[in-house]
Amino acid sequence: MLALLMLAALLSCNQPGKKEHEQNAAVPVEAEDSTLITARNIFKSLPAVAENKENAITEPKVKLGKLLYYDTRLSKAGNISCNSCHNLNTAGVDNKAVSPGDAGKPGTRNSPTVFNAALHNMQFWDGRAKDVEEQAGMPILNPVEMAIPHKGFLVDRLSGVKLYQDMFKEAFPGEDKPITYGNLQKAIGAFERTLLTPSRFDKYMNGDKNAITAEEKAGMNVFISSGCIACHNGVGIGGGSLQRFGVVTDYRTLTRSKTEDEGLKKVSSKKEDKDKFKVAGLRNVAGTYPYFHDGSIASLDSAVIIMGKAQLNKNLSTEEVKQIVSFLDALSGDVNADAKTFPPQLEKK
Ligand code: HEC
Ligand code: HEC
Repeated sequence: MLALLMLAALLSCNQPGKKEHEQNAAVPVEAEDSTLITARNIFKSLPAVAENKENAITEPKVKLGKLLYYDTRLSKAGNISCNSCHNLNTAGVDNKAVSPGDAGKPGTRNSPTVFNAALHNMQFWDGRAKDVEEQAGMPILNPVEMAIPHKGFLVDRLSGVKLYQDMFKEAFPGEDKPITYGNLQKAIGAFERTLLTPSRFDKYMNGDKNAITAEEKAGMNVFISSGCIACHNGVGIGGGSLQRFGVVTDYRTLTRSKTEDEGLKKVSSKKEDKDKFKVAGLRNVAGTYPYFHDGSIASLDSAVIIMGKAQLNKNLSTEEVKQIVSFLDALSGDVNADAKTFPPQLEKK
């Protein structure tokens, strides 16, 4: 009996130490920088590209994907492209509460940013698409968005364009009929997988301790200690799961939302999924206003205050809000310059 007790005591002393945490780190950090060690356990810095084993990222595919992304021929009347609602020059969004479609009629949800979206575990506010490849096929056929009547309609339209005949062939070598709807999804997906935005926060995570200011670091600590990280964590600082918006209070009383949106429940028809939405990824959030799934809130300060109340039953102080917002500012970065340049092949002559 005594021997057993001694063994238990011995085992309990043998806890994994700090060294263990450091193993994931890109650059080893001194043990005393506990803030960085903590941050590395919660968040992750960006990879160079967001890989997909089933859709290798090749240069011809990315080039084709970029062309398709900017081409208004992907909408029925030719009025809009992906870039109309997800403008790569304005943080991957259109900064409107909801976006007008091909026929000018507004949709019901806010356009989320395409920046870093490929790193999320799911796509859309209700997570109904699994990845950017699956997602890319959906707005084209959505009657309120790009309004293409059916897949064959678009395949026929693109097959009549010499530029696309050549580019699909190059992007999908060896295929008999490379212009397919599935290949279009793959090409746009491959392009989106390059839309990552390294920020000062990533520099910090990679070991440059002075890449973020003392105020931003204080904000990160408030973000961690308040409990925001229960949902906003990982490489996207969100984007990993579906959670109730309004854990404590019905979100509508705080956002004064005009549209009735129950999120995941509409997809799953399960009562317990009412008001579950994808946890927003917070990279570039300073530029992706207005906020929430319906664009109901204009300022980031207000969005942070609402999150404190609705999710954590906390009234954040003015100082805490200021600090959190400055931390969120450090999460802003930009995509590569080439992605943002309008393709010359599409210029109207
Ligand atoms: C008319 C505006 C509009 C157009 C055009 C449009 N989108 Fe979107 N996009 C939206 C809206 C609104 C949502 C959110 C809808 C929802 O969650 O139900 C969305 C969601 C997305 C998402 C999910 C992001 C996330 O974080 O969940 C991606 C990726 C995306 N769109 C890419 C594209 C691509 C690629 C195209 C072109 C093929 C495109 N969009 C065309 C408005 C648009
Ligand atoms: C229980 C999970 C949870 C917690 C905790 C949480 N959030 Fe959120 N957050 C969400 C969800 C879900 C959304 C998307 C809500 C919607 O629009 O439907 C969101 C959205 C946001 C947005 C809006 C982003 C956008 O692009 O519209 C911000 C900003 C934000 N959260 C910041 C915070 C901060 C700061 C904290 C801590 C004070 C926090 N969140 C705590 C789940 C959470």
